[in-house]
Amino acid sequence: MAETAKERIVRYLQDAHAAETGIDDVLAGFINDTDDPSIKAVFEEHRAVTKTQAQRLEQRLTALGEKPSGGKGFLNMIMAKMSELMHGAHDEYDKNTQNLIKAYATEHLERGMYESLIAYATAVGDTETAQLGREIQKEEEQTGERLFPLIQQYAKTALAGTQGSGGAYTA
Ligand SMILES: [Fe+2]
Repeated sequence: MAETAKERIVRYLQDAHAAETGIDDVLAGFINDTDDPSIKAVFEEHRAVTKTQAQRLEQRLTALGEKPSGGKGFLNMIMAKMSELMHGAHDEYDKNTQNLIKAYATEHLERGMYESLIAYATAVGDTETAQLGREIQKEEEQTGERLFPLIQQYAKTALAGTQGSGGAYTA
């Protein structure tokens, strides 16, 4: 039998909760992965927001008489593939830059995930879930905007690990 609209909303909320919980773990890994205090600070802050997102999703599930599934959702599977693909950075410089790229990509995966939650919740008249989705989606967008300029900033730090005068060359 096909699931009801409510069952589908609950499943989406559980998937989103699993995604936020998984992202929290990924961020903890990024924090351990670097010696750079400003990268640590960005990810610590991001981790605090992620935790409140998981809490708010859990509260919404509770209001619907449900709880987190403890399973893995679509986003967790994508993230697992992504970390497989990008594992084994060449050096410390690449690692920082690649972790920033991964974090930036994750914000956009989340943005897309919440877009679908918002659309479906709106279509079935669950305005509270739609509102929560919009609130969290906004936070993901803000984080993505903060992370983006850091990519070029850290990509340039690789010059310090480049041989030769300033790294400039002619082809
Ligand atoms: Fe998030």
